[in-house]
Amino acid sequence: MGATQVKQKMGKSVQMTSVEDFLDNVAYQKLKKLLHETFGIDCNGYRDEYLKRRFAIRLNATGANTYSRYVRYLKKNPAEFNLVLSNLTVNYTTFFRDSDVYVYLEKTVLPRLFKSKEVRIWSAGCATGEEPYSLAILVHKLLGKELSNYNVTIFASDLVEVALAKAVEGEYNKKQLMGLADSLIGKYFSNSGESYKVKDFVKQMVRFEKHDLMKPSLRKGFDLILCRNVMIFFARESQQQIHMHFYNALRAGGYLVIGKSEVLGGEPSRKFLCSDVNCRVYQKSLADGCCRPSCDLRVAKADALSLNNSAGGQSIVVQ
Ligand SMILES: C[S@@+](CC[C@H](N)C(=O)[O-])C[C@H]1O[C@@H](n2cnc3c(N)ncnc32)[C@H](O)[C@@H]1O
Repeated sequence: MGATQVKQKMGKSVQMTSVEDFLDNVAYQKLKKLLHETFGIDCNGYRDEYLKRRFAIRLNATGANTYSRYVRYLKKNPAEFNLVLSNLTVNYTTFFRDSDVYVYLEKTVLPRLFKSKEVRIWSAGCATGEEPYSLAILVHKLLGKELSNYNVTIFASDLVEVALAKAVEGEYNKKQLMGLADSLIGKYFSNSGESYKVKDFVKQMVRFEKHDLMKPSLRKGFDLILCRNVMIFFARESQQQIHMHFYNALRAGGYLVIGKSEVLGGEPSRKFLCSDVNCRVYQKSLADGCCRPSCDLRVAKADALSLNNSAGGQSIVVQ
């Protein structure tokens, strides 16, 4: 056995691991720990092959090439932390993404929810805001003048502050509005040159907050939760844990919408009823509890980076 190899004879199989690989794996664990300590992200919830694919981009870009060198690089260049985080969490999104899902919400889910005058919606993993603003536009379009008789709140959360800051700004270019009818653009956006800004009456319907989905939601009593195209990041157990967080945050009869390429597994698959399989819309049984808590549980200060987008301007208020 060579000096750089650890040979393990396990009965029939022979496994060889180079010392370099072993040390690099130690550094990989160290990198995950650093991200946990810096951002509070529990990387253990993410799939290893996913993490390694995403880290590889930064390892190459910085020329570090190995985890050991990259960890040293990170410690010397704190600005790199934001780059590795942005790289880890892909923020791609569009307005009215998967339009059939919005049609189902418009025709089936929202009319049921509007039997009550108070409706709470959560766009979890909202990236740069296109999803919650699409929901706000849809609600506005559906309720029209009746909206003032309703109390509709759309919470929108993400882990990445840069994405949330863009969401709060609510400013997009024409390419980002692709797929939106001109009539909707004219009604819901103010155009100035290249910029299209979400109008204040739409912004007022959405409340942005920083929230890590690995942690249970401190807000409860939701009628509708959308968490789409987020689960790709997570290991199967974490996906199930997050879906159970949603289950607990929904009121009885509330709806969960997941991404088109995502599935409910394990316990959540037994807890939710399927409302529409193609649109991946699920419902919490009406028989399962009856409460609609009128207020949120205490929102922990650390989680309450409250990005308040009131009409007067977009202030990022760290409480
Ligand atoms: C691809 S985008 C999806 C945006 C939108 N839901 C959609 O379907 O178009 C995924 C988002 O999930 C967010 N995300 C990843 N891990 C997260 C976590 N642990 N907690 C909260 N958000 C997370 C990312 O920052 C990113 O903005």
